[in-house]
Amino acid sequence: MTSTHPAPSPGGSPLVASALTKVYGTAEATTHALAGVSLTVHPGESLAIMGPSGSGKTTLLHCLAGILTPTSGSVAWRGEDVATLSDARRTVLRRNDFGFVFQSGQLLPELPAVENAALPLMLAGTSRAEATAVAARWLAHLGLAGMEQRRPGELSGGQAQRVAIARALVGSPGVVFADEPTGALDQSTGSEVLDVLTHATRASGAALVIVTHDAGVARHCSRTVTMRDGRISGEFYAPGTKAAPASAAVQHAVPAPPATSSEGAR
Ligand SMILES: Nc1ncnc2c1ncn2[C@@H]1O[C@H](COP(=O)(O)OP(=O)(O)O)[C@@H](O)[C@H]1O
Ligand SMILES: [Mg+2]
Repeated sequence: MTSTHPAPSPGGSPLVASALTKVYGTAEATTHALAGVSLTVHPGESLAIMGPSGSGKTTLLHCLAGILTPTSGSVAWRGEDVATLSDARRTVLRRNDFGFVFQSGQLLPELPAVENAALPLMLAGTSRAEATAVAARWLAHLGLAGMEQRRPGELSGGQAQRVAIARALVGSPGVVFADEPTGALDQSTGSEVLDVLTHATRASGAALVIVTHDAGVARHCSRTVTMRDGRISGEFYAPGTKAAPASAAVQHAVPAPPATSSEGAR
């Protein structure tokens, strides 16, 4: 079994899933997508979830992120059980505490890159001017300076995923969730995007949970868990990673990060 409880958390709170099960379907045809998963995501760590198609990765990610309600079990985050919150409260939590990067197609085609990236801030009530200023800094930080006004259709797949990464990070989330974020990209572009995603997330201080079937991803992450048939079947740490790394100290190493100071404005 897993022995480890990686070292001192750098300040934030962990996301703790306990004994999660998820059963899809009716009495006639049921699928036990999760068969008892317990997992702690430590503040600032980067965690890859790997496993064959159908092993329950997406279901686990969605339960962790409050997108899906598990059949049983709990997901504790900052003193609340994500699994049993009201829909309204969960929506707020997803918007304020979590960031998301999906495989593709998640940008709004009619909005320029900068507005796509700024969306979570605007939804949370930040003024348009300020939200787009923060988003533009993130885009620049992720290598997209000069492309702020392009619409998603005018970006390459890798560039579009960088916009999605900016959007996931603008709101200073505690955890970023990514489901096969490079699944639609060729290998070298995918690898670049992963680099950007892992570095930017780490620098922002957020934890990263990334679902993938690409073994290369594990190299970018501090820890990998493997899934099989709805259970965690293995866990390993990247070479040289003794403990959950990612300290708040790195936070100042990057130019971009977000608008915490503006939170006084509702
Ligand atoms: N909405 C759903 N309704 C019924 N079965 C589902 C649904 N979503 C996923 N499943 C089933 O649950 C299992 C796990 O799926 P999923 O979590 O998507 O796995 P992965 O992401 O590892 O491919 C699979 O057998 C899948 O067919
Ligand atoms: Mg999946």
